Amino acid sequence: MDFSGFYKLPITERQKRIKEYAKLTDDEIALLANTGSLKLELADRMIENVIGAIHLPLGIATNFRINEKFHIIPMAVEEPSIIAGACKAAKLSLPEGFRAEADEPVMVGQIQLVGMADLELARKNLEKNKTEILKIAQEYMKPHERYGAGVLDFHVRPLMSEKRSMLIAEFSINVGDAMGANMVNTTLEGVAPSLATLAEGKVRLRILTNLAVKRMVRASAVWKKELISQDIIAGILDGYDFAKADIYRCATHNKGIMNGIDAVLLATGNDWRAVEAGAHAYAAIGEYKPLTTFERTENNDLLGTIELPMAVATVGGAVNSSPTAKACLKILGVKSSRELAMACACVGLANNFAALSALSTEGIQAGHMKLHARNIAVIAGAASPQEIDAVAAELAEKKNFSSDYAKEALNRIRSKR
Ligand code: MEV
Repeated sequence: MDFSGFYKLPITERQKRIKEYAKLTDDEIALLANTGSLKLELADRMIENVIGAIHLPLGIATNFRINEKFHIIPMAVEEPSIIAGACKAAKLSLPEGFRAEADEPVMVGQIQLVGMADLELARKNLEKNKTEILKIAQEYMKPHERYGAGVLDFHVRPLMSEKRSMLIAEFSINVGDAMGANMVNTTLEGVAPSLATLAEGKVRLRILTNLAVKRMVRASAVWKKELISQDIIAGILDGYDFAKADIYRCATHNKGIMNGIDAVLLATGNDWRAVEAGAHAYAAIGEYKPLTTFERTENNDLLGTIELPMAVATVGGAVNSSPTAKACLKILGVKSSRELAMACACVGLANNFAALSALSTEGIQAGHMKLHARNIAVIAGAASPQEIDAVAAELAEKKNFSSDYAKEALNRIRSKR
């Protein structure tokens, strides 16, 4: 289906196209279109002390060709320009689009053991009983075996903090298409007493790590010099070097990447806090660094890459309980958590490209202000699309975005009719 000019369509026409494209049912599109669609009873089952729900706009990023297949990407976010930036960067990456790959969905869970009289003896005892420990842990993964999930490995390492020494037992667990927190934590809590007995120590924390380095995703794209100017390529490379050399810039560089990734995670009911924690911890291994890289190719095109941990789910948790998340996954058209991870990485890379290309040339305010001007026009009372466009155009031209000026402009436009 052709999505060119999608942004110019009225909302109802966009909904019609998405319904057709993703074969959504009447109920599904009605749910997405209804900005108050989370039922209170459902919300009350998701978290505690519920009094209501808040809403975010849900938009669609177009033009994403990932491993030779076109995807349209649902993104939930309150900030203007993020979706426009992603669409533009993705369009400029065509016809090739993005290449992406994701590791097997392996999460690591940690058990902290303290109070052992002889740390080395305890460690050896645990390692010696590895087969038995893996068997006990696997018992807790039984319900998930049919989805290909299971315990893969176990090892123990000593850890010295300022105040005490301890053992950290780490389990590598394939979690299938789930994010994995529940199954990993249940397994850890189940197997922990056996470890305490073998180590003659005390169990403290039993929890997965969000630094999911065994569940990495990688993506890349080449932006051809025929489609972007040498000035933009040079600007992006300068901006990238700035981020590599300066942690203050690097934090914002990575924030721009997460703008896009978080929006996809929110739309698809994923735990964006977990992915944020993993992304920044990964960036901080060694020295805090950009999650993307940019370089000129031999042909003088621009190659961009991204790599980060991506613990995401297409089943379980909020993905299952939220009908809007399910509908968004249907729109995205991914079949597995790995495919979802790849889409997220491509969006992150696209948003980073868009931010660097705007920041190093005309700046980002022009784009922000265009949308902002339309909001101000509506607040000032502009009612029809023609009025909104005319007022917004005048505010942008005069670079005056006050609501008083918007009202004046609106009166002037109306009096001319
Ligand atoms: C704003 O939400 C994100 C940017 O600051 C990212 C960046 O500076 O690279 C524009």
